[in-house]
Amino acid sequence: MRNQIAAANWKMNLTYQQAEKLLDEILKAQIELSTHQQVIFAVPAPYLTMAKSEVGRDKNFFIAAQNCHHKKSGAFTGEISAEMLQSLGIKYCVIGHSERREYFQETHAMLADKMDQCLENFITPIFCCGEPLSIRESGTQNEYVAQQLKDSLFHLSAAQVQSIIIAYEPIWAIGTGKTATTEQAQEIHAFLRSVISSQYGQDTADTIPILYGGSVKAGNAAELFACPDVDGGLVGGASLVAQDFITIIKALK
Ligand code: PGA
Repeated sequence: MRNQIAAANWKMNLTYQQAEKLLDEILKAQIELSTHQQVIFAVPAPYLTMAKSEVGRDKNFFIAAQNCHHKKSGAFTGEISAEMLQSLGIKYCVIGHSERREYFQETHAMLADKMDQCLENFITPIFCCGEPLSIRESGTQNEYVAQQLKDSLFHLSAAQVQSIIIAYEPIWAIGTGKTATTEQAQEIHAFLRSVISSQYGQDTADTIPILYGGSVKAGNAAELFACPDVDGGLVGGASLVAQDFITIIKALK
């Protein structure tokens, strides 16, 4: 079975003390996970080291950065490179979240470079894609997300693509309380897998976890995760509440 993943995206929330407490509460629940089930916390950069030491050696729990810079190093004040993350022992990084695309003008080409930076540094990128409401309403969401994949992923080798995670996050569902229906989620996840398959073959496409994001809650996680092509979720708001995120983790297939 493909890896099934509950990924928390804390965004720019929580103080250091609140972050420690939240992690503590979730880890204290001692959730039993199978080998193919993983939990990833994408935490603010200043908390990476603390979070990594909190999850310790628990083999199913990992820490992600929320972003990295698209260049290897240099005069980019305030930025964080993939190499720096690697030197901290961080194994995952969210790439191309829609908030970064929108508020920080991240282009497809920059995201392609960020993918390279991650992979060169043995970091698994969690590549986000997803359409705005206007595109969904015009019925062209498939073409839109396919283009996002083509422009930022298709330069990768098949071996590289096998070590990425994709997160489909319709922008109209992020932080809005509006969730894609299970039919909408399954349909576009299967489509994304077919886009990967057309470039890299079915075997490769079948190995890649595709997470759903956009108002995943304790109350809807189980039905979303039950879809055959939905391999877990990237969770914002509900990941900030220990009991809610615990319920979401337990909803993994
Ligand atoms: P949300 O955010 O769960 O609050 O909708 C998801 C995300 O942006 O990753």
